[in-house]
Amino acid sequence: MCGIVGYVGKKRAAPLLLGALKKLEYRGYDSAGIAVLCGGLAVRKCAGEVSNLRSTASMEGTCGIGHTRWATHGGPTERNAHPHVWKRFAVVHNGIIENYQSLRAECEARGEEFYSETDSEVVAHLMEFYYAGDLLGALKETCARLKGSYALAVLCSERPGTIALARYKSPLVVGVGGGVWCASDIPAIAAKDRALYPLADGEFALLGDGAQFYGREGRIEKQPVGRDMSESIPLKRGYRHFMRKEIDEIPAVLAKCRPCALVSASFPGVRDGLAASSHITVVACGTAYHAGLAARCAFETLARVPCTVTVASEYRYADPVIGEGETVIAVSQSGETADTIAAAELARGCGARTVAVVNVTDSTLAGLCDDALPVSAGREIAVAATKSFNAQLMVLYTLAATLAEAKGRRGYGDLLKEMPELAAQTVSVGEGVRAWVAYFVSASSVYFIGRGADYVAALEGSLKLKEITYLPSEGYPAGELKHGTLALVEEGTPIVAVLTSERLAEKTMNAVHEVYARGARVFLITSLAEYAASKELTGAVVIPQCGEVFSPMLSVIPLQLLAYYVSVARGIDPDKPRNLAKSVTVE
Ligand code: G6P
Repeated sequence: MCGIVGYVGKKRAAPLLLGALKKLEYRGYDSAGIAVLCGGLAVRKCAGEVSNLRSTASMEGTCGIGHTRWATHGGPTERNAHPHVWKRFAVVHNGIIENYQSLRAECEARGEEFYSETDSEVVAHLMEFYYAGDLLGALKETCARLKGSYALAVLCSERPGTIALARYKSPLVVGVGGGVWCASDIPAIAAKDRALYPLADGEFALLGDGAQFYGREGRIEKQPVGRDMSESIPLKRGYRHFMRKEIDEIPAVLAKCRPCALVSASFPGVRDGLAASSHITVVACGTAYHAGLAARCAFETLARVPCTVTVASEYRYADPVIGEGETVIAVSQSGETADTIAAAELARGCGARTVAVVNVTDSTLAGLCDDALPVSAGREIAVAATKSFNAQLMVLYTLAATLAEAKGRRGYGDLLKEMPELAAQTVSVGEGVRAWVAYFVSASSVYFIGRGADYVAALEGSLKLKEITYLPSEGYPAGELKHGTLALVEEGTPIVAVLTSERLAEKTMNAVHEVYARGARVFLITSLAEYAASKELTGAVVIPQCGEVFSPMLSVIPLQLLAYYVSVARGIDPDKPRNLAKSVTVE
């Protein structure tokens, strides 16, 4: 899973490719590379981030392709970096070639040599095999042999000034204006006066003086899509890391959502569709899945609509029962997560009404669902999702509040209006977790516990901690701890309990007593001040009250801060944790 880019025009390609690749690093930063046509093929590759790419100054050509990688097949080494080159061809690829082993064996049987462990290298070999002067024809024949997913950009040393493209189940967009461009996403190449043409599955393009588009049968015309150019690339503005800045942005993001007006006025189809739904299913991955779990509490408790939440990668192969009158909500920050897209496609194909809850509104997911609700978190740079989670909750809670209102249960929308102010207070008191860092920094494992909505916050807090500190960590239902995980608690094991439910407070405190009795160091995030003074606690942060169901929107904030400060204390860059990517566009 990776980001690809291409440029052909009048300017030197290398610096333009590097600039666009930087914007695609959210898709992976295991290695980078560019290839430029200048006489023959000039190629530079490196392990690690795009900024590690050296000696590109001497690359003079005005036509090139580039790649930033998230390793799937083969380690994050220079050897496995794209572009992959075989004889006259250089290829960059985003996706997975599932049948690469048999294709590679076929090429090797012809005496061809491979140098990498990647699935992608075989594409350059197939291009060379099928090429007889017709670049597009060779690409079509190559793609006909591939199983899996791909966005491909191909250079041929015999075709100066031309880039050939193919797309199947991995995003690819062409930009015309100020040269001709291609990239895995729109923001990487969007510019004023540049027309943008997303390719559809099965489409091809040749970029040169302009862009020509092709379906399997022949030439096709495409219409450019609109793009809101007002969004600028965020800067750190004095912050050491984007993640810390993005946590500080949560109150402003929640204020911007204006959710109730949004759902009722701007998306009546979503409101009416949901009101008619007998069942809601949420599909998502990672942090967005946790947003779905939090939403379930709201849909069921406030609106009394049954709701199931499923990890998208499971849903797509589970042969799910998709009933009539069902709404499937696909939640995704990027709108490009392959599993979430596939789950939404499946649901739509089975007749469900599909709603995307997305931060990137011109994403693939937004385009394929019946409706797309924007979460309006603004661009999120840090790999670990923070403000987009709180914003997803705002939209999902608003849907639940709207449904509840339709059933005569009023007042929840008003509560949501207070959230920006309460979130600002929470960011401020959440800084208290800095005093806890020393107890976590060398822990061998950490546990987060809670019940109901507090359990969802525990899950997300645990995910944040493990992804940016590399500490083994689990989120657990407080009542389930004693059925196994308690065996792992030792003297000094840090345990974070989340407690905002008055109804369940004593029950959660039972688990606190139990782990304390076994030597754990217990830390509490609570909106119930009376529990903060409990003698078992090493630390407590008291956050504002906002009702049990909506509480993860606030209680997660000190957990995000805890993960951030522990990460920094461990000398890790929280914005770019190892092995991860902001958006996972492969299975
Ligand atoms: C990756 C990111 C996570 C994110 C997940 C889902 O794993 O590192 O932060 O939650 O993908 O991404 P999405 O864009 O679909 O919300």
